[in-house]
Amino acid sequence: MDMRNDKESKELLHSQTHIWNHIFHFINSMSLKCAVQLDIPDIIKNHGGPMSLSELVSALPINPSKSQCVYRLMRILVHSGFFTKEKISGTTEEEEGYLLTPASSLLLKDEPLSVRPFLLGVLDPISIKPWHNISEWFQNDDPTPFDTAHGRTFWDYMGHEPRISHSFNEGMASDARLVTSVVIKDCKGVFKGLNSLVDVGGGNGTLAKAIADAFPKLECTVLDLPHVVAGLQGSGNLKFVGGDMFQTIPSTDAVLLKCVLHDWSDEESIKILKRCKEAIPSKGGKVILIDMKVENNDKGDAESIETQLFFDMQMMILVTGRERTEKEWAKLFVDAGFSGYKITPILGLRSLIEVYP
Ligand SMILES: C[S@@+](CC[C@H](N)C(=O)[O-])C[C@H]1O[C@@H](n2cnc3c(N)ncnc32)[C@H](O)[C@@H]1O
Repeated sequence: MDMRNDKESKELLHSQTHIWNHIFHFINSMSLKCAVQLDIPDIIKNHGGPMSLSELVSALPINPSKSQCVYRLMRILVHSGFFTKEKISGTTEEEEGYLLTPASSLLLKDEPLSVRPFLLGVLDPISIKPWHNISEWFQNDDPTPFDTAHGRTFWDYMGHEPRISHSFNEGMASDARLVTSVVIKDCKGVFKGLNSLVDVGGGNGTLAKAIADAFPKLECTVLDLPHVVAGLQGSGNLKFVGGDMFQTIPSTDAVLLKCVLHDWSDEESIKILKRCKEAIPSKGGKVILIDMKVENNDKGDAESIETQLFFDMQMMILVTGRERTEKEWAKLFVDAGFSGYKITPILGLRSLIEVYP
């Protein structure tokens, strides 16, 4: 006979719920992905007011036999804060309709700051597959679970698979647009006194273009892998250069690295930073990073801390990188031969970090 007392039984049931909740965490991401693939945020926005379930069902491109399931998909997305429900005025019964929330407004197709391409890239089966190989990777000598799953590095894969590469670059570009709006508005001073800037690993140039437009006297260059910049045309004070940041970086007053060093291990990041130091003047030059500074667990709200831990795991699974605490950043800068740095935490979970030679 089980001799557990009431307290032990409660704990047991609570533990079981906790485990179930974690087992099913992927359901949040996958339900959201489904809503985005079915264009539900756009359909609700275009409706122009609270949209009833029957109106949503008839607007969706779905097989009629699945109509009954839309309510269940919407119920979990209301629960997770992506839609709200509001009474529809003029209806006799208490009929409610769906509305967007600030979070689902950031998933609209034509929203310039949309997180939709990032969502579709991160939740693509190619990106998800390595998560099934983590324990295997811990026991082999592959550099990343991505290598274990796909037999080559993430960067090599991107160079050969235009579909996923496009999705990845679009995801980064939408993030760059979001970051740009803050950087240009609140961090103008960072670019003061500079005549030239190289955005290393600058992708399709979204951030560099916005900076070039905002500062017409600043000569901006995007350096990225040849297949990423192939076919991209510069204009005015913006140009594109194909190359390898581990080999050489064009001479410049400042180097910008947005979401680049978190892709690489400490050893690799030190190599990149050394190339940056060679490219800038020892007086007045600087490296500008836009990356996360991981908070200690006693700071920040639980959701932000969990999101930073998710990013850190994502870097471990796809590439050889990591998210870093201030202490880890400081060590990296010293090891690469820099003399000082300044962290400005103005970008939500990310910071703007200036590093001086
Ligand atoms: C996470 S993305 C960041 C893109 C962009 N900075 C942004 O935040 O929107 C990393 C970028 O580094 C580029 N990259 C990877 N290896 C590189 C190398 N060896 N030399 C130059 N760029 C590289 C990738 O092609 C990619 O565009």
